[in-house]
Amino acid sequence: MKTIIKAEGIYKTFQDEEEILKGVQLEVEENTFTVILGPSGSGKSTLLNIMSGMLKPTAGRVWFRGEEVTSLRENDLAKWKRNHIGNIFQNYLLLENLTVRENIEIGKRQKPTADEENLDFDELVKMLQIEDLLDKFPGQLSGGQQQRVAIARAVIKKPEVLFCDEATGALDEENSKKVVGLLHELKKRYGITILFITHNHQISYTADRVITIKNGQISHDYINESPIEAKDMVWE
Ligand SMILES: Nc1ncnc2c1ncn2[C@@H]1O[C@H](COP(=O)(O)OP(=O)(O)O)[C@@H](O)[C@H]1O
Ligand SMILES: [Mg+2]
Repeated sequence: MKTIIKAEGIYKTFQDEEEILKGVQLEVEENTFTVILGPSGSGKSTLLNIMSGMLKPTAGRVWFRGEEVTSLRENDLAKWKRNHIGNIFQNYLLLENLTVRENIEIGKRQKPTADEENLDFDELVKMLQIEDLLDKFPGQLSGGQQQRVAIARAVIKKPEVLFCDEATGALDEENSKKVVGLLHELKKRYGITILFITHNHQISYTADRVITIKNGQISHDYINESPIEAKDMVWE
């Protein structure tokens, strides 16, 4: 197994406030689905945002395939994010005045190369079951449909890591199962590594690995030898 992304001695303090992350050490293997659990305010989003290059740590380093991300200059950092990273969030963040098709197109690589090419648009939208929604606007869609469009936008460029911050936080059981199942499918089909923050323990049962963050540190780190299928999750 190969490490794809590594956080090394990550500390974070916002302005003069208390320390939010206290020396987090985390190595993630490629083509895995990792769930991050932990109470509100424990630092989960802060950690994910640092690993995805959206936020600078106060101290520590992030490595992607052996290259340091935290030392990249702004331009190279932007390029790295554009080429290797995808993000989805609880509130979808689609552009309301663009159609579904246009929202997804935004996520495409502008200059695909032989090594780094976009996924096939038609195949992806079919897989995500949004092929009939392409001419609609986000306001005409349900939450579950919007999140599947947001997934399409995030993965059309075939990122190597997809960061998901409470991506099912606003969805009901049926839609959450669908989204989690599709993310597993993306991992399987395209080898995308998934990091998924949630409060939902059922989702953690589908993961290869479950990490718990408490008070700015990793308090548990568990390899799940027998993950369940997303469709077999049972809501408590
Ligand atoms: N930009 C910021 N400025 C100041 N404090 C922040 C900022 N972002 C997060 N925090 C604080 O850091 C703590 C951890 O936040 P967060 O990482 O969002 O936690 P979680 O995702 O686990 O709920 C919280 O107390 C939050 O208020
Ligand atoms: Mg959060």
